[in-house]
Amino acid sequence: MRVDVFTQVPHAFGWLTEQKPLATVLGTELELRLFNYRDTTPLRAGQVDDAPYGGGAGMVLRVDVVAAALDAAYGDDPAARVIALTPQGRQLDQDLVEELAGEPSLAILSSRFEGFDTRIVDNLCTDAVSIGPYVLSGGELPAMVLLDALARRLPGALAAGSGEHESFSAALGGGIEYPHYTRPAEFRGFGVPDVLLSGNHARIEEWRAEQSRVRSIA
Ligand SMILES: C[S@@+](CC[C@H](N)C(=O)[O-])C[C@H]1O[C@@H](n2cnc3c(N)ncnc32)[C@H](O)[C@@H]1O
Repeated sequence: MRVDVFTQVPHAFGWLTEQKPLATVLGTELELRLFNYRDTTPLRAGQVDDAPYGGGAGMVLRVDVVAAALDAAYGDDPAARVIALTPQGRQLDQDLVEELAGEPSLAILSSRFEGFDTRIVDNLCTDAVSIGPYVLSGGELPAMVLLDALARRLPGALAAGSGEHESFSAALGGGIEYPHYTRPAEFRGFGVPDVLLSGNHARIEEWRAEQSRVRSIA
């Protein structure tokens, strides 16, 4: 799939592109392009935002600036989904990640300061997505959250089997994962459930399914 991120801070994504699993699929299953609104702004001196009509604090990302960025990137061939990252959007969950991972191309728009001119969200985007009910200072972290969650769903991103039994997966009925333990078997009096040390794989599977079920309804 191809994912295009529109941002005022493209260099923020350098770290993420070096991390697995994104680094694993980059250039094969995932084509990632970073666009800086400033590179295509029709305004002078790289201006991308402006004071809000009606007054008030903060700067608002301009609709003509975002339209110019999308036109330069796509012409008449837009991405399958154009997503505005905003705390006011549909909350991101695993179902939405799966849905978006099935698309051939995504454009992810981030903003800063006071956010988007609402005409961007209403007229230039297909979706508005929030990563949670809290306000961050910019869309770069939300974009990275979405990118990482998407990358995990692409073929070859994860070691065989490791993405199948995770929290919210179909294998766990959409519930949360069972608990994990590793060595040492005892630490400061904290032990490990006997069943996990038993070597009885059928009982271990049963115990894990039960743990997942109990934790999911808690
Ligand atoms: C400070 S926020 C703007 C908040 C906006 N004035 C409001 O009250 O809804 C600046 C930008 O950060 C991004 N952002 C902040 N929190 C977010 C969240 N929870 N989910 C997605 N994007 C978020 C968005 O791109 C947003 O436009």
